[in-house]
Amino acid sequence: MKFDTPAGANPIDRMAVVGRAHDRIDGPLKTTGRAPYAYEHHREAPNAAYGQVVGAAVAKGMVRSMDLDAARAAPGVLAIVTAADLGKLGFGQFGKGKFNTVKLLGGPAVDHYHQALAIVVAETFEQARAAANLVRIDYTRSQGRFDLDEALKTAPLTGGSSDEGSAAPGMDRVGDFEAAFAAAPVTLDARYTTPDHSHAMMEPFASIASWTGDALTLWTSNQMIAWGHGDLAKTLGMPKDKISFQSAYVGGGFGGKLFLRTDAVMAALGAKAAGRPVKVALPRPLIANNTTHRPATRQRIRIGATKDGTITAIAHESGSGDQPNGSPETAVNQTKLLYAGANRLTAMRLAVLDLPEGNAMRAPGEAPGMMALEVAMDEMAEKLGMDPVAFRVKNDTQVDPEKPTRRFSQRQLVRCLTEGADRFGWTRRNPKPAAVRDGRWLVGMGVASAFRNHINMASGARVRLDGRGVVTVETDMTDIGTGSYTIIAQTAAEMMGVPVDAVVVRLGNSAYPVSAGSGGQFGAANATAGVYAACVKLRDQVAQRLGYNSADVAFAGGKVTSGNRSADLAQAAAAGELVAQDKIEFGDLEKQWQLSTFGAHFVEVGVDAYTGATRLRRMLAVCAAGRIINPKSARSQVIGAMTMGVGSALMEELAVDPRFGLFVNHDLATYEVPVHADIPHQDVVFLDEADDKANPMKAKGVGELGLCGVGAAVANAIYNATGVRIRDYPITLDKHL
Ligand code: MOS
Repeated sequence: MKFDTPAGANPIDRMAVVGRAHDRIDGPLKTTGRAPYAYEHHREAPNAAYGQVVGAAVAKGMVRSMDLDAARAAPGVLAIVTAADLGKLGFGQFGKGKFNTVKLLGGPAVDHYHQALAIVVAETFEQARAAANLVRIDYTRSQGRFDLDEALKTAPLTGGSSDEGSAAPGMDRVGDFEAAFAAAPVTLDARYTTPDHSHAMMEPFASIASWTGDALTLWTSNQMIAWGHGDLAKTLGMPKDKISFQSAYVGGGFGGKLFLRTDAVMAALGAKAAGRPVKVALPRPLIANNTTHRPATRQRIRIGATKDGTITAIAHESGSGDQPNGSPETAVNQTKLLYAGANRLTAMRLAVLDLPEGNAMRAPGEAPGMMALEVAMDEMAEKLGMDPVAFRVKNDTQVDPEKPTRRFSQRQLVRCLTEGADRFGWTRRNPKPAAVRDGRWLVGMGVASAFRNHINMASGARVRLDGRGVVTVETDMTDIGTGSYTIIAQTAAEMMGVPVDAVVVRLGNSAYPVSAGSGGQFGAANATAGVYAACVKLRDQVAQRLGYNSADVAFAGGKVTSGNRSADLAQAAAAGELVAQDKIEFGDLEKQWQLSTFGAHFVEVGVDAYTGATRLRRMLAVCAAGRIINPKSARSQVIGAMTMGVGSALMEELAVDPRFGLFVNHDLATYEVPVHADIPHQDVVFLDEADDKANPMKAKGVGELGLCGVGAAVANAIYNATGVRIRDYPITLDKHL
């Protein structure tokens, strides 16, 4: 089904099932421990041996020698695989996937600290771990580049839509920023930094690999089945149809599991060498440096406005670093779209670093970008003597500020801000910083806009109807804790007119049609739109079987009705199962309409007057993100995102050792994230929307919107509480001194 005109009325509009809070259909399986996660496929892969990954102990250099003798002789060891063994194992074509910047098995060259150099396979986990510790590797260490500020001094501009033929490649310009900024009566020129972040998901990277002849089955933990499937085939130099790639349950990913990682590759290699199934989980201390992270940024924002608060000039520049051939953290994205202003400039620089590979973490680009932009807006409001809500409202735009002929498909930023202000009691905020005290606490309120783009992705599904009236959906969509199982069941139930418990949902398997997958807050809307498309076909088949005119058939209450004729849905499949497959694809509506999601975050904090420690007191998010398919699971997404935003404001930071080129705090004891005790009451409000330009579900993403802006709202609340403006995240107590 091609979506190339705005959606008209359709069966989803009935909203008998869609749009209603529904408990997770996979909840009981998960809470009783019966949902098999990657490491738990004991039944399908009996007798699995254990693989332990050996990570490089230097960040940059060459392996000079590897002594495996002691490890080989250790109890229980079945096999050891290094890059030197690939040829004789039949992987002479071993390479790198499309989505990895760096090889997932290094050697002799070492690209980053904890890059995998070997896997040791043994009968038990303890034996594998003990033997891995006996692997002796000597390195020739070379000088790496680990200092972002230093590397950015000579880093080139990157990206930008005006690359070709432009005087300044990598820079996007509208009007004359410099002249407008120079002429503006009120200006701000400020720099902000965000550190490297780790996804720190609950379930570690884990895989079980099992070979039958030259065919491989992999149970893994991955957000994007088709990407992982393709990249595993590419990495191992095998045809895709020889690999079954499965990830039915995922214990969190946050972008870290968008891509194939070393656990999958090493499990496959280890299983081949050992001649039996092998399971590999990356130990927590390996994850921060072996896998990807959100890259640190250095951002500069300049805003010029007239005295009445109209922005006339806005510039956002961001620098980040990555491995050679890596990509920038696109922290300037939202600044292209969020506020009006005739003269604009955005630019990114990308430095080459020898730190581990940087890549997407929840709301890549916007999450760190909003942490800077929305503090800059707060600073600017103060300079103007304006209320920060009013300043944002004044600079709202209903058109793409870079291409004014394009309108937003829907944009209720102003309503999010004003309705949020009402609900939060914003008028009680004292605009004078450090003026409100509650015992030892300095109390302040902060606000930030929320913004995240909505992304269209093609997404396919297969739907079956059997003679009992059970509807089964198969798609390679994943559920990374987000509620995909449930919203897909709701969609199929709505379309086929059956209760949710008459729908079976099967996900996360390369044998099923390729879906959008889970990432970039594009999963829910696109994957359900793919199920919608398949159900449209199934409805036609049902009508045909029953001899009804498919133009006027209604599906409700387990019955199919056409005029004065009616039948049980199951009857249509009495003579044999019906199977329909389709996918949603997108035309160029996006050229005419900018698809984005909006919101507002309100935060109240207390800052301890004696220690500088910050405690959250209240949080509110108001979101405008199209139709909300399941308000309960969407709320869970948003409160989780708000929690992550608190982490980014106050705690999260991978500390770089500039001498040895590694993230020092590579475990959950030292990489701090909020726990329940850190998070107070959270309110989430969804505005009533349905975006007919987005897809037939009229839904957009929400899981990342909930994060974008939270960090800045916390920072702004801290400023309001203390009068101390901290522009370097995380805002730890030492920075108040
Ligand atoms: Mo998200 S960082 O695209 O999983």
